[in-house]
Amino acid sequence: MLSTSLLPVLALIGGVLAAPAPIPSGGVGVRSNDTPPVYHTMSEFDYQSLSLGLYQEWIELDLFNYGVERFSAEEFAAAGLGADDVSLIQFMANQEVGHATLLSNIVSAYGRPAALQCKYHYDFETVRDFVNFCQRLTRWGESGVYGFLPHLDSRPSAQLLLQSITTEARQQMIFRQFSGAFPMPVYFETGISQSMGWSLLSRYISSCPANNTRIEWPIFPWLSVTNEPSLLVDGYLANITHNRTSLSEPGRTVTFAYDAPGKSTGPDNSYNTSVGGLVNSTVPKFAAWISQLNVTYTPLTITGNGTASTIQPGGYVFNNTNDGIVNGTMFIGLTDTDLYVTPYNLSLINDHILAFGLYQAD
Ligand SMILES: *[C@@H]1O[C@H](CO)[C@@H](O)[C@H](O)[C@H]1NC(C)=O
Ligand SMILES: *[C@@H]1O[C@H](CO)[C@@H](O)[C@H](O)[C@H]1NC(C)=O
Ligand SMILES: *[C@@H]1O[C@H](CO)[C@@H](O)[C@H](O)[C@H]1NC(C)=O
Ligand SMILES: *[C@@H]1O[C@H](CO)[C@@H](O)[C@H](O)[C@H]1NC(C)=O
Ligand SMILES: *[C@@H]1O[C@H](CO)[C@@H](O)[C@H](O)[C@H]1NC(C)=O
Ligand SMILES: *[C@@H]1O[C@H](CO)[C@@H](O)[C@H](O)[C@H]1NC(C)=O
Ligand SMILES: *[C@@H]1O[C@H](CO)[C@@H](O)[C@H](O)[C@H]1NC(C)=O
Ligand SMILES: *[C@@H]1O[C@H](CO)[C@@H](O)[C@H](O)[C@H]1NC(C)=O
Ligand SMILES: *[C@@H]1O[C@H](CO)[C@@H](O)[C@H](O)[C@H]1NC(C)=O
Ligand SMILES: *[C@@H]1O[C@H](CO)[C@@H](O)[C@H](O)[C@H]1NC(C)=O
Repeated sequence: MLSTSLLPVLALIGGVLAAPAPIPSGGVGVRSNDTPPVYHTMSEFDYQSLSLGLYQEWIELDLFNYGVERFSAEEFAAAGLGADDVSLIQFMANQEVGHATLLSNIVSAYGRPAALQCKYHYDFETVRDFVNFCQRLTRWGESGVYGFLPHLDSRPSAQLLLQSITTEARQQMIFRQFSGAFPMPVYFETGISQSMGWSLLSRYISSCPANNTRIEWPIFPWLSVTNEPSLLVDGYLANITHNRTSLSEPGRTVTFAYDAPGKSTGPDNSYNTSVGGLVNSTVPKFAAWISQLNVTYTPLTITGNGTASTIQPGGYVFNNTNDGIVNGTMFIGLTDTDLYVTPYNLSLINDHILAFGLYQAD
């Protein structure tokens, strides 16, 4: 009996036994008689998600170019970065041109406009601050896409976006290396919702072309960790990796300041912050620690008007010793309830968020 895997070979040789290679049942879009892929948005959800992605690509392009132009070779050298490293950052800027082109093509497929580049403001003064900001910005750029990728209506568009976000993931890791950090301290990269990503991104945009696509995802009030650890304090310079003392530990008291909703923000101050749609209190009750595959809640102590504290939790992903949930550059929110969510339905906590920000756990 002939092995089925030989059939295509025989088909070529004999020209008679023509048959496509067998495909296990199931799967979508993998057969020649399936509808050919169309790389278009298929819903408002797609258009708004990919337009948000495009806003993110545009700021990365600006940021990487700006850093390369602003700092001298001597300033880069003082951070442990040589000419080859600077060329790598320049290459990353070029990658962003490609990503912005790709996303512009997808969102504009039905004659709808693609957002153009905006103007931005940054608050770093040194090369170390710059690369540290880059590792934070690319963290939410990467996680912001993972959160919506499997929810897109257009699977062909998801394929293309996947192939750009894997490049962005490499950028994020390299910027951690440039910051003197351990490159990848987690087992799993988390996904966050569009609102979470837009809340982190929009505050760095000063102004956009007047008719630019309006991003419809709500922006949460800003949450700042007032005693946030920094990767830059211990004197570790750029390297492939460093074994370094953890920046934070379970049991640490973490203090917050959070804004009230209704503040104008974002490009041209043309957006307002708002809390989740189901929030039923003006005072948050929990901190939500979002990292790896997990959302972990800790009770909040209100310490003043717009200030609070909590205790950093422990916990592992799979009951091990170095897959601690709280690690790396991660996300933190304040909520009114400890809603149970898992990676695929994480966006359901949007409705319960009162403030949102980043946490540099390690
Ligand atoms: C805004 O207007 C400019 C100039 O007319 C046009 O090139 C661009 O595509 C428009 N962008 C959006 C997002 O509407
Ligand atoms: C990286 O750090 C190690 C020590 O951990 C050091 O020996 C090495 O020179 C460093 N590499 C660079 C490129 O600085
Ligand atoms: C680095 O840390 C690992 C554990 O995370 C340890 O096994 C290893 O010995 C450390 N290396 C050095 C050079 O201290
Ligand atoms: C923001 O809120 C202010 C006051 O509550 C309101 O006047 C303004 O129209 C809002 N702007 C947007 C863009 O929603
Ligand atoms: C607010 O909603 C949460 C669940 O979403 C519930 O546990 C809590 O009791 C509610 N609080 C009030 C004051 O209604
Ligand atoms: C709380 O602080 C905000 C400004 O951040 C202020 O507008 C408000 O009046 C304060 N509320 C109280 C009760 O002090
Ligand atoms: C973290 O998520 C994983 C995967 O869902 C789960 O097995 C684990 O129990 C969670 N850990 C904690 C501490 O909740
Ligand atoms: C999980 O933890 C329990 C108790 O803490 C321990 O008995 C068990 O061996 C651990 N399992 C693994 C796979 O680490
Ligand atoms: C956090 O990541 C570091 C690597 O930077 C690792 O050595 C450490 O064990 C991790 N912490 C936990 C609690 O898993
Ligand atoms: C999220 O999904 C999990 C199953 O993975 C489910 O147990 C949980 O109830 C869901 N959360 C909400 C808020 O629906």
